[in-house]
Amino acid sequence: MTKAIKQVSLVGLGFVGLTTAAFFASRGISVTGIDIDAEKIQKIRKASLPFYEENLEPLLKKTIQTGFLRLTTAYDPAIAETDMTMIAVGTPSDAQGQIDLKYIKTAAHSIGQVLKQKEGWHLVIVKSTVIPGTTRKVVGKIISEESGKVIGRDFGLCSNPEFLREGSALKDTMNPDRVVIGEYDDKSGRMLKAFYETIYSEQTKILRHDLETAEMVKYVANSFLALKISFANEIANICEQIPGMDVCEVMKGVTSDFRINPNFFGAGLGFGGSCLPKDVSALLKFAKEQGYSAPLLHGILQVNNHQPQHVVKIVETVLGGLQDKKIAILGLAFKKNTDDMREAPSIQLVKQLHEKGASQIFVTDPKAEKEAKRIFHNTVNYGSVEECLSEAAACILVTDWPEYTNISPKTLQSLMVEPRLLLDGRRIFDPSSYDRSVTYRGIGLSDTSKL
Ligand code: UGA
Repeated sequence: MTKAIKQVSLVGLGFVGLTTAAFFASRGISVTGIDIDAEKIQKIRKASLPFYEENLEPLLKKTIQTGFLRLTTAYDPAIAETDMTMIAVGTPSDAQGQIDLKYIKTAAHSIGQVLKQKEGWHLVIVKSTVIPGTTRKVVGKIISEESGKVIGRDFGLCSNPEFLREGSALKDTMNPDRVVIGEYDDKSGRMLKAFYETIYSEQTKILRHDLETAEMVKYVANSFLALKISFANEIANICEQIPGMDVCEVMKGVTSDFRINPNFFGAGLGFGGSCLPKDVSALLKFAKEQGYSAPLLHGILQVNNHQPQHVVKIVETVLGGLQDKKIAILGLAFKKNTDDMREAPSIQLVKQLHEKGASQIFVTDPKAEKEAKRIFHNTVNYGSVEECLSEAAACILVTDWPEYTNISPKTLQSLMVEPRLLLDGRRIFDPSSYDRSVTYRGIGLSDTSKL
């Protein structure tokens, strides 16, 4: 009889790893977080987050102070002293859009080396997003070879994909819609399920699958979310061509059907972030390797890549060219409540505005300005909302930060110059509150001036 899991080591203290580690520790689990980046570990030890995420810092501080969360750069003895090791390292895309497993492989080698010396059964969990087959054929195989131990006999193996969102990471981790377990064998799955039952309420849905099915669930979930957004954007672009049409009204009617859930159906500038674009690309690559061209997955990315271009075209048309026109961009992060700009639509937007000759681009963001400076350097100007809007001919709302929702039509009227284009890329403003002094255009809303 194997003892219940009380001590956990977690490899990779990025977004998922750190949130999971702090949450487990807050539930009285003894957690050792491992990351090879010594600078990062130093920072986290002082309860300082390497990224912006609401509510996580106080929990981190508390769990470090109570001693439930410890941090180290060394795999040994952290792994040897725990019952279960979770791998939460990044799985970025390579230049061809294919999943890059270098961090996963390094982690598996290091875990194998420690397990070689460890007595007793140990459970290894892959939390990172990986293509079906990776947990078994890459992680399990490397650990076996490195340790000389047998999977299913000497150590257990599970896949346990993560569904938390940046910006609401802690909330999502504390109240997951479901916990998905992929198991190599019954014992591995049973042990992980029992562990989750000690930290979640009885109502939490825990699903058990084989390893590959669990790995696939993650890709399919992210691809379907991306599909919803690209579908909404495609319909929005069609709606703009029909006089009097508004995609928001259309979607109200559509999502009243119980089969069509209204969440994550908002048209805008397209999806960004470190997950949706990467995961759709990786699944597409994987499908092609299996001999299937996956045209729908291809279409998701095509519509998404086109959306910033679509917005630039509207701005160019309304302004009659972009040369010598000041353009304000409100919001740079790929979504609100984060400072993350990975694959953010704002990057493509700025690139395309430049290509079309815009030279006076002013940008602002409550959290992502530091990151923006790293990406844009001095090719754009940085300032407050007021500095950006002042004398601007166009303002593009890119990220729906609450800070921007209260910008009044009067402010735009007094600060901006003709034609005072407000391009609402997230549909956060009420079109009816603008008179003809501001040229309001919203994604998915036809040009009302033509009515
Ligand atoms: C996404 C998934 O939502 C999580 O479930 C998953 O765990 C995570 O990836 C991951 O794989 O780690 P995240 O990347 O944090 O989470 O961001 P989302 O909240 O999914 O937003 C992605 C993009 O879609 C953002 O650019 C957002 O602005 C955009 N979006 C979202 C829309 O354009 N319209 C919507 O209606 C919703």
